[in-house]
This record gives sequence, structure tokens and C-alpha cells, in this order.
Amino acid sequence: MDVRTAVVTGGGSGIGKAVAQRLRKDGHRVAVLDLKPNDAEYEYRVDVTDRAQIDEALDEIRQELGPVTILVNGAGLEVYKRFVNLEFADWQRAIDVNLNSVFHCTHAALPDMLSAGWGRIVNISSSSTHSGQPFMSPYVAAKSAVNGLTKSLALEYGPNGITVNAVPPGFVDTPMLRRTEEKGLLGGTIEEHIQRTPVRRAGRPEDIAAACSFLVSEEAGYITGQILGVNGGRNT
Ligand SMILES: NC(=O)c1ccc[n+]([C@@H]2O[C@H](COP(=O)([O-])OP(=O)(O)OC[C@H]3O[C@@H](n4cnc5c(N)ncnc54)[C@H](O)[C@@H]3O)[C@@H](O)[C@H]2O)c1
Repeated sequence: MDVRTAVVTGGGSGIGKAVAQRLRKDGHRVAVLDLKPNDAEYEYRVDVTDRAQIDEALDEIRQELGPVTILVNGAGLEVYKRFVNLEFADWQRAIDVNLNSVFHCTHAALPDMLSAGWGRIVNISSSSTHSGQPFMSPYVAAKSAVNGLTKSLALEYGPNGITVNAVPPGFVDTPMLRRTEEKGLLGGTIEEHIQRTPVRRAGRPEDIAAACSFLVSEEAGYITGQILGVNGGRNT
């Protein structure tokens, strides 16, 4: 296996953390960008809505670990409000964290992939993009845009050896899901949701990490522009 340098945003918690651990286990050199990084090597305190912070971290990562040829855009922020009660600032924040961050990180890392003639980008969107979600309109709008961006970049950079795919997770047991349950916004308890899930369990961060591990691998080179749902059959 070729050892690559991977950047995982949102790798401080939940799904992103599992992705970073999995890619390390796969043998890659992995750096994490997160508002709340863990106290581990190559974890950077970066706000992924701030391009200057991203550029600074990526420069350091390039020097320490080499050109970035794998990028997993996992940072995300849930926003719950009835649409009529949204302030524009709520909308803007959701778009900044869930969509503009993907622009910035991808735009910053892509030149390394173009120089290498090889790259893998995986965007973590959301199963809410399949069906919509009440009280989460800015989040769903941002994540749906991420799916569209994924398809367009796949077409644009396929000729350069770069694949771009999205993984929309559904019902994965992470701090984000627990916060949603605590606020009473899950539409039932976790146990009730399990009974409505075809595989009869909640997703684990490792389920998403396994999909990412495959999509960034050498052998996934013919898979691009795809939206690979990992949701226990809740969305088909
Ligand atoms: N858990 C689920 O069921 C589920 C469902 C659909 C989509 N998702 C998506 O999966 C991804 C991971 O979610 P999770 O459930 O692990 O949530 P989480 O809250 O546990 O982790 C999200 C991480 O993103 C980081 N982050 C947030 N804003 C940031 C910023 N501005 N700059 C840098 N880092 C920032 C947080 O610090 C946190 O470590 C998110 O994009 C989320 O929208 C999760």
C-alpha cells in the first residue's frame, strides 16, 4: 500500500475522530484540523471557516508529513431552529461551517493532489439530504450543496487522478446525535430509532470510517462522484 498524507477535518470528535484513527491504522500519515483537537500528534486547533488558519496548518503539515493527497471533510455543526425564527447569522454560520469549510479545505489541498497526479477527497454530508429535515433547513441546504459540489469536482478532476465522493451518514451514535436526543429533537428516543432502522442498531463512527478507508484506497480509483449512504438502510 502507498502511504499518503491525509487531512481529516472535524477529527477531534465522533465520526472524524474514527476516520483519523482508521486512516492511521491503514498506515497513512494523518493530520487533524478541529476547533477542539485531541492532545495527540499532528492535531491542529483550526477553525475550518478561517482560510488563514487552514493555510497555516497545511503549510506545517506539508513540511512535517509531505503533500496532502487525501482529504476528508468531516467538520460539521448542527443548527436547530424553526425557519421563521432563524436569524441570518444562524443561516450564515451553518453555511460557513458545513459548506464554506469544504470550499476552503478542498481549495487549499487540491494543488498538492494536482501536482501528485493522485488524490482522494471524501465529503461527509448527511442523510438529511435524502429527505429534508424539519428545523434544520440551513444545515440540510449546506449539506445538499456539499453533495452537488462533490459531483462537480469529480467531473472536473477525474482526468487528474483525483476522486471526489460523499458519505452522508445517518443515525450515527456520536456527541452530535446525543445532543440532538437531549434537546428532544431526534423524533423519538435512540431505542425507538433503532427499531425503525433495518439493521436494528445505531450506526457507529467506525462504520463511516470503514467507508472512508475504502474510498481513499488505491482500489477505489474507479469510484467518483458518488454519494455513498451509510445509514443501516434507513435511506435507500
Ligand atoms: N452523527 C450523525 O448521525 C450524523 C448524521 C449526519 C451527518 N453527520 C455529519 O458527520 C460529521 C461528523 O459529525 P459527528 O456526529 O461526529 O459530530 P461531532 O459534533 O461529534 O463532531 C464534529 C466535529 O467538528 C468539529 N467542528 C465543528 N465546527 C468546526 C469548525 N468551525 N472548525 C473546526 N472544527 C469544527 C467539532 O469540534 C467536532 O470535533 C459532521 O459533518 C456531521 O454534520 C453526522
